[in-house]
Amino acid sequence: MNILVTGGAGYIGSHTLVELYKAGHTAVVVDNLCNSNPESLRRVEAILNDEIGNSNPTDIKFKIPFYRTDIRDREGLEHLFAEHRFDACIHFAGLKAVGESVQKPWEYYENNISGTLVLLDVMRRHCCKNIIFSSSATVYGDPAEIPITERCSKGLCTNPYGWTKSMLEQVLVDIQKADPEWNVVLLRYFNPVGAHPSGRIGENPNGIPNNLMPYITQVAVGKRPQLGIFGNDYPTPDGTGVRDFIHVVDLAAAHVAALQCFAPDFEYRNANFIYNIGTGNGYSVLDMVNAFVRVNGVPVPYTIMPRRPGDIATCYCDPSKAKTELGWRAKFGIEDMVRDSWRWQRQNPEGYPDGDGL
Ligand code: NAD
Ligand code: WQD
Repeated sequence: MNILVTGGAGYIGSHTLVELYKAGHTAVVVDNLCNSNPESLRRVEAILNDEIGNSNPTDIKFKIPFYRTDIRDREGLEHLFAEHRFDACIHFAGLKAVGESVQKPWEYYENNISGTLVLLDVMRRHCCKNIIFSSSATVYGDPAEIPITERCSKGLCTNPYGWTKSMLEQVLVDIQKADPEWNVVLLRYFNPVGAHPSGRIGENPNGIPNNLMPYITQVAVGKRPQLGIFGNDYPTPDGTGVRDFIHVVDLAAAHVAALQCFAPDFEYRNANFIYNIGTGNGYSVLDMVNAFVRVNGVPVPYTIMPRRPGDIATCYCDPSKAKTELGWRAKFGIEDMVRDSWRWQRQNPEGYPDGDGL
């Protein structure tokens, strides 16, 4: 398939490009680079050349078409669709910082919701009605049951970012109901961590990381003095928050598996295409820190801080629907996650080089 990948220069998008090409698909990337660097795309191409280019007798040099375009830019998207024919879109583009969304709700609703509405309109005008949307465990709010299944109802989000995901799920479901030619897949990611095992691509947060793993790696590499652990009095085995951390390469592979939903003879065609994408294992914050130190042999000093507002104690999923219907399951474990996160950070202490270089 030829896939439009919005937000393809970002963390999850870049890893997904690798898995798409490895599975024989092709992609075109649209990204406004507001939270990414096009160096990621060059590195994806380098990985592909190393992993599959040399084994190909014609020695293909991978070049992924890239458009520096905002998904709110209707003309820009029209131009893109005039030049390419797409079988499907994997839609990663969006702002994702929870705390920032509380400070700038308008910007989050405008970017994520208006952007997606423009994208969907241009897609339907060009008869491309297959979409995989990056949703999030955050749509469950404080979940009614653990492990979380897809039958669990959505909950109240604690921040505008989460609401954009929840609202966009509804928009997509309604559009599909009104026009059954649409195929909508909602992938609810749990906590993506890790990096490609080559260490060439990974998570490259701007400023102070919001998420646990990039904070740990920045402490380990000496960029920050210590990790703050937000609360050790939760009703969990060691008192720290428990999450379903998933290796980003597994998450990327889930997108390739989800493309099956678009086949007319897909066995589960009448089911709703909502999938939890996690490992099904809950690891605590301290589990992650201890595994990181043990596997990588580097210290990660930490201090216990007050709880972070909006955090819940425990969040992990039952991923069996994705296994049954898509044949997908996570293959990487906690040791792979901490090892690969560290390899990326160690090889790229400053992330991708500055300057967009295009
Ligand atoms: P990321 O910020 O690395 O990637 C998102 C990409 O979208 C960036 O390259 C950014 O430049 C681009 N972008 C943002 N707004 C755009 C716009 N208006 N037009 C064009 N490009 C735009 O984030 P990520 O971690 O790779 O996340 C990808 C998707 O997955 C996001 O939608 C995010 O909300 C969702 N998600 C992420 C996580 C996570 O923890 N990383 C968890 C659940 C869901
Ligand atoms: C994990 C655990 C923290 C940082 C967020 C979004 C969610 C989704 C994934 C996009 C928690 C603790 C963290 C730190 C810490 N993103 N922690 N010190 O909050 O589960 O989920 O990212 O959709 O929507 O909310 O992930 O990595 O921020 O936190 O102790 O410096 O680590 O309290 O228990 P979270 P996280």
